[in-house]
Formats: sequence, C-alpha cells, structure tokens
Amino acid sequence: MVKIKFIEHSGQEHDVETNPGASVMVAAVSNGVPGIDADCGGACSCATCHVYVDQEWLERTGEINPTEEAMLSLSTDRKDNSRLSCQIQVTEDLDGLVVTMPEFQF
Ligand code: FES
Repeated sequence: MVKIKFIEHSGQEHDVETNPGASVMVAAVSNGVPGIDADCGGACSCATCHVYVDQEWLERTGEINPTEEAMLSLSTDRKDNSRLSCQIQVTEDLDGLVVTMPEFQF
C-alpha cells in the first residue's frame, strides 16, 4: 500500500492508503477526502482536482502533459508545484506523498 497525505487549505490533514495503479485523485475521492471535486472523473478536462505537490515530491510525480498544462493555465491560483491529481499515477515510489489542496476548486 502507498500512503498519501492530503492537506486541506484549512490545514486539516487526511492520511490515506491506496494501491499503486490508480491516480492520486481516485485515492482522495475513494477515501472521502474533501477538497478534490474531480467533476470530470479524471478525464483532465475540469481542473477541479488541483493540488499543490510538496516540493520534496515534485520530481517523482512525473511530467505535466500538454492537456494538463492547458487546464492548469486557466487556474488563477496556479503555483510552480501545481498538478492535477488525476494525472498523477500512484506508484510505490510515491509512498509518503504529501499534497495540499487550494482554497477553492474551479
Ligand atoms: S478530475 Fe477533472 S481534471 Fe482531474
């Protein structure tokens, strides 16, 4: 199992365990973590699964693909560590991953 820590904008933390293979978004939604809406169900077309990846983990989450980049570019609260959590695949390498949610999902 892979452990992921989700931190709400308020600072409330949620520790979940998930199997490799799914996305970070699915790990959040299937464990009832608030703050990730995922309106498009993971199709990379809504940007309501926006997270900020802890800097320590950023390299291990992989490259931003062109569709994800296009969606993130529409976000007013984008940061250099912004990712769409539906585009981050959970691997054993991400055991201990920490992500924070923005105040709002648009
Ligand atoms: S769930 Fe819609 S872009 Fe990630």
